[in-house]
Amino acid sequence: MKLLSGLIGYPAKHSLSPWIHERFMAHANIDGSYQIYETQPEDLTDTITGLRNKRLDGFNVTVPFKQEIIPFLDELDEDAERIGAVNTVLNLQGRWKGFNTDGTGYLRSIKNAYPELFSPEKRVLILGAGGAARGIYRALATDVFSNIDIANRTFDKANRLIPLKGQHVTTDSLSFTEAEERLRDYDLIVQTTTVGMNPNAHAQVISLNNMKEDAVVSDIVYQPIETAMLNSAKEKGGKVHYGHGMLLYQAQYAFQKWTGLLVPLEKMHTELEQRLRGF
Ligand code: ATR
Repeated sequence: MKLLSGLIGYPAKHSLSPWIHERFMAHANIDGSYQIYETQPEDLTDTITGLRNKRLDGFNVTVPFKQEIIPFLDELDEDAERIGAVNTVLNLQGRWKGFNTDGTGYLRSIKNAYPELFSPEKRVLILGAGGAARGIYRALATDVFSNIDIANRTFDKANRLIPLKGQHVTTDSLSFTEAEERLRDYDLIVQTTTVGMNPNAHAQVISLNNMKEDAVVSDIVYQPIETAMLNSAKEKGGKVHYGHGMLLYQAQYAFQKWTGLLVPLEKMHTELEQRLRGF
């Protein structure tokens, strides 16, 4: 089997995805390539035409095209349609089908790290209501959880996530202040905003002063890997879940869509962590 794959986005040239997918291909003994197609928004149509001509087997889509790609697709997976964003495209004999592997990737990552969280009485708080939050909320809200609250700076955007949930789930949308006041209620706190990302590594979206001692705090930011939020969780005695987990697992799921193969991640998880820590 040969796999022609790649990534479209802007900025994209510093993406870790080529490193990840090349390791997947090596592990699976697949000959292929994963190329970055860095594209300015005004050049999207031209890049897409180029990708069609190159007959790629599949590709990933990142910022700012996760929604813009949709009109160019022939088919959408149900989750991608509901989330309204696509990060993975599969070429099915010339027909392009869009998927969103971010939420499922996040779910696999947190489930692997903290399986004991997956119980209906555990309460979840999601911070943020952007594209990443939509995928994560959809994945968590169609799993075992029955209480998942969302806090966001723009209150209205938090409300717009609620139609993505399963019927068994109750969700309150909160302001950040309300979330800080209620923090003791939560067993899992998922930070999905861009706050704390380099070069603003000192920033933290809410205070964790009131968190439950044994709660898990998960941050999807992975540059830096030790965010201010995770450091603060550790100081409070909480457990942490690093952002590179989601990055790896969403890639694993994308690679599974393209090849049908589920590659193991344990070794790569450590390698990627070392890389992000600068070793
Ligand atoms: P992504 O695809 O990474 O989720 P996004 O869709 O742009 O990116 O969403 C960014 C998220 O970070 C949003 O929840 C955004 O809050 P708003 O909906 O209010 O814009 C949040 N965010 C970004 N900068 C923020 C800041 N300075 N303070 C609080 N939240 C912030």
